[in-house]
Amino acid sequence: MSIYDGKKVLITGASAGIGYALSEELAKRGSEVIVTARRKDRLEALAQKIENTGGKAHIFVEDLSLPESGKKLYDQIKSAGLNIDILINNAGYGRWGELTSHERDDYSKMLQLNVTTLTDLCHLYIPDMVAQGGGGIINVGSMASLLPIPYASVYSSSKAYVLMFSEAIRYEYQEKGNKSNGSFPRRYGVRICKHCYRKIGKTY
Ligand SMILES: NC(=O)c1ccc[n+]([C@@H]2O[C@H](COP(=O)([O-])OP(=O)(O)OC[C@H]3O[C@@H](n4cnc5c(N)ncnc54)[C@H](OP(=O)(O)O)[C@@H]3O)[C@@H](O)[C@H]2O)c1
Repeated sequence: MSIYDGKKVLITGASAGIGYALSEELAKRGSEVIVTARRKDRLEALAQKIENTGGKAHIFVEDLSLPESGKKLYDQIKSAGLNIDILINNAGYGRWGELTSHERDDYSKMLQLNVTTLTDLCHLYIPDMVAQGGGGIINVGSMASLLPIPYASVYSSSKAYVLMFSEAIRYEYQEKGNKSNGSFPRRYGVRICKHCYRKIGKTY
């Protein structure tokens, strides 16, 4: 039996990429997955795929780059009677180019998604997990968490936050049954860096 069997797992950014793959895999391992993103059609298709193979999925459509969206999502999930055992803060994006080549508003949204909503969801779910006797959090970072990346300055700084924050709360709550961890998809990290350098016409 898998350790994920019977666990309720909330995965943000589940409509594509890593979040989509994680949702499918966890459902295969017996988790009831609670998946969220903005694209409803993709979430519906994912939930259908999971249910066709005997799994359980619930969908919640939310734009997590909006202020207070984390709390809105938390309230909706609570109202549906779902108590989360594992939170996977995966939704995130970056912008490539010199700092001033993107609008301030775009960076505000990125920071809201990559940093503030991630923090809000941890803040909201940790007390519930502690009251339930334990839980787990995976905050998806990046190789960009480890060093400043020119032409991805805001993104790499946001991912550095994810690493520092995850390490700090792991220490704070480790004795209370909560495991928090940063996850750093290295293989993907290389791909994204190459993509980033290609975009701005430099060699990687
Ligand atoms: N892939 C890589 O090479 C790589 C490398 C290092 C780190 N990472 C990190 O891994 C995580 C996932 O990356 P990925 O490559 O799988 O990304 P992706 O394929 O672009 O998927 C991003 C997911 O996040 C969701 N999302 C984006 N903006 C959102 C918003 N405003 N509100 C709610 N959901 C939103 C998207 O769904 P909707 O568009 O439907 O909302 C989608 O489900 C990110 O945190 C990324 O920084 C990725």
